[in-house]
Parts: sequence; C-alpha cells; structure tokens
Amino acid sequence: MGNINSGNKLKAGVIGGRQGASHAYAYANSEEYELVSVCDLKSEVIDEMWEKARIEKGSVRTYGDYRDMIDTEDLDVVSVSVPDHVHADPVCDASNAGVKGIFCEKPLTINLEDGDRIVETVQKNGTKMSVDHTRSFVPNYRAGRESIRNGDLGGLTRIVAHMGGHRSMLFRNGTHTVDLISYFADSRPKWVIAAHEQGFEDYGTVYKGEGGKDPALDPGSTVIIEYENGVRAILNSAKLTPAFHEIDLIGPSGRILLDDKTSKRWLADKPEGELKEDPSFNYPGYPDFFGDALIPAVKELAEMILDNAVSSSPPERARDTLEIMLAALISQDQGNTRVSLPLPRN
Ligand SMILES: NC(=O)c1ccc[n+]([C@@H]2O[C@H](COP(=O)([O-])OP(=O)(O)OC[C@H]3O[C@@H](n4cnc5c(N)ncnc54)[C@H](O)[C@@H]3O)[C@@H](O)[C@H]2O)c1
Repeated sequence: MGNINSGNKLKAGVIGGRQGASHAYAYANSEEYELVSVCDLKSEVIDEMWEKARIEKGSVRTYGDYRDMIDTEDLDVVSVSVPDHVHADPVCDASNAGVKGIFCEKPLTINLEDGDRIVETVQKNGTKMSVDHTRSFVPNYRAGRESIRNGDLGGLTRIVAHMGGHRSMLFRNGTHTVDLISYFADSRPKWVIAAHEQGFEDYGTVYKGEGGKDPALDPGSTVIIEYENGVRAILNSAKLTPAFHEIDLIGPSGRILLDDKTSKRWLADKPEGELKEDPSFNYPGYPDFFGDALIPAVKELAEMILDNAVSSSPPERARDTLEIMLAALISQDQGNTRVSLPLPRN
C-alpha cells in the first residue's frame, strides 16, 4: 500500500475530495507514488474522503486551498477532480507551478476558451497530462483498440455507440462516449451533425449544466461524427431508454462489440464476408471498485513522466471531444445542420 516513505516515489496531491477520493486511492495503491496531500474547499468532504479512498484517516496532509497545497508541497503530480466548469484554473496553476504530471477529470472543460488555455499551458510548460476518460484505461476497451490497430478488422469503417438511461447527458456522461469514439477512430473529427432528444430542441449553444449533476440541464443527443480518416460514428443517446452503454466497431472484415463488462469479436475471412464469432477475444471490463480503474491511468502517467510514454487519454483528444459536444449544440441550434471542425476561435 502507498504512503510509505521512499525518496524515489513521485509525490502526488489531489484537488477535490469526492470523485477525487478515487484518485487518492489510485496513488495510494501504485508503487510509483507517495500520496502526500488532498485538498477540498469543504472540510466535511475531506472527513468523508478517507473511507471512500480506503486510506487511513489523517495519513496524508489536508488543505482547503489548492494554491496553498501547491506552494507548500513539492508535488510531482496533481489530480484535478473539481466540478466540470472549474478545471482550467487548477490545471493551469499546477502546470505553471512546475508539476511534472496532471491527471484531470473529464470533461476537459465546458467551453473552448478554457480548453485552449489548458492545452496551450501544458504544452508550453511541457507538463505531462492525461484526462480521466476512464474507458481509455479499461482492459476490454484497450484490447479493442489494439485489435483495430493490428488490422484485425481490415481497418475501421463505422462506429455505433449507445448511451442510455436517465444519465444520458451529452456533457456530463456523454463526454466519456464521445471521447471513446475518438479513441477508436484514431483520427481528428472533421464534421458533426446532431439532433437532441425531445424537450431539448431549444437548448442553445452554451452548455448550461454547471456542476454537471442535473440531467434536466444536459441533453441526450443523436450525434453523427465524421473523422478525417473516413471513419463515421453515430452516438445514440436519450433518456427514457434502458441504462446501458455499448460501442460497436465495424471494419471491412470484422466487428468488435464492447460494453462495460464484456467484449465480443467477429471476424470474416474476406472484406464484406460472413462474420464468425471469435471466442478467443475475451477481456474484462471495469473492475468492481471504481478506484481500481484509475490505477492503470496513474501508472501510465508515471511512465509518461519517467520514460516519455504516450498518454492513452491526452488533453488534445479531450479538447476534440469538447469541440464535438459544442458542435452538437451548434448543429441542433442551426436546425440540425453540418458543423465543421475545428470550431472557429474568436
Ligand atoms: N471518470 C468518471 O467516471 C467520473 C465519475 C464522477 C465524476 N467525475 C468527474 O469528477 C469531477 C468531480 O466530480 P464530483 O462528482 O466529485 O463533483 P462534486 O461537485 O460532487 O465535488 C467536487 C468537489 O470539489 C471541491 N472543490 C471545488 N472547487 C474547489 C477548489 N477550487 N479547490 C478545492 N476543492 C474544490 C468541492 O468542494 C467538492 O467537494 C467532475 O469533473 C466530474 O465530471 C468523473
């Protein structure tokens, strides 16, 4: 377990103590790190954090002000797990203070100005950064991407993703699915067409769900995305549907179907041939305890810092994800028209 004093470990601090408890757990359970501090504006959140993070009460230092924590502790790595609309300041402040790595919660931000500010700041400072679009680190999704990159499907043509249930919220939860689509498409998005679920027709072009908790403030949407490499994706997302999450990856000679628990692959012996299930493709989905899903992410961040490894969930892709979601709002607002990416900057 973490918190053992060792000179060579990367020193980690966590900003935001609710979902941030999972980050604290991940550092405390990764040998590359020493978890040294956590910070939350509210002391009662810290009081509840120990149990959620499964770490001994009082075993790390606590702060109410993240700037104070960054100034006091000589941190190598900082997690940012504050609400969606306030990620930019702590990320940029940590990067400007010289931390080596940042693990930021999703979505990157809720507007383009903050998204650009984050990407430009970490690039300027050379800060290594990953965004917690968690499925990027879950074994079956990773195996799916490796299979596609190996050419097992003869390339990739189409992606169909479902996000159902009352949490069908384009920004709060949909950011995971949109980002997952880009993770598999392995390309930059070129254009977007969207039609929101009924009741959100006049939602407008600015995301309204500050804090991200209320499904009534965040539309489900049917979104078509075309990528520069020709991959085309459909995200189907609406409330009043069963709460399932699934992604179907289709290439000329194969198909991979993934959800949060299972993985299936079918292969054909030639392009457009008949598919046969391949039982050897069998990988686990999310672990039972959410904090365990973040251990591969923080371990990879250590490799990025120490060995220049590449992020499985870089901020540049998270910004593409943000642009796709914002483009979906614009498309709906303009009568479901096609919106080109990147979006224009002011
Ligand atoms: N990856 C996932 O599956 C997943 C799951 C849940 C939440 N999240 C993300 O995690 C982030 C946090 O979500 P949450 O549900 O914990 O939100 P929350 O609103 O429940 O909690 C956020 C915490 O951050 C604290 N905070 C806010 N500003 C702060 C500041 N300047 N300094 C220190 N603390 C500050 C608040 O006091 C609060 O305790 C969001 O971006 C959310 O989208 C991701």
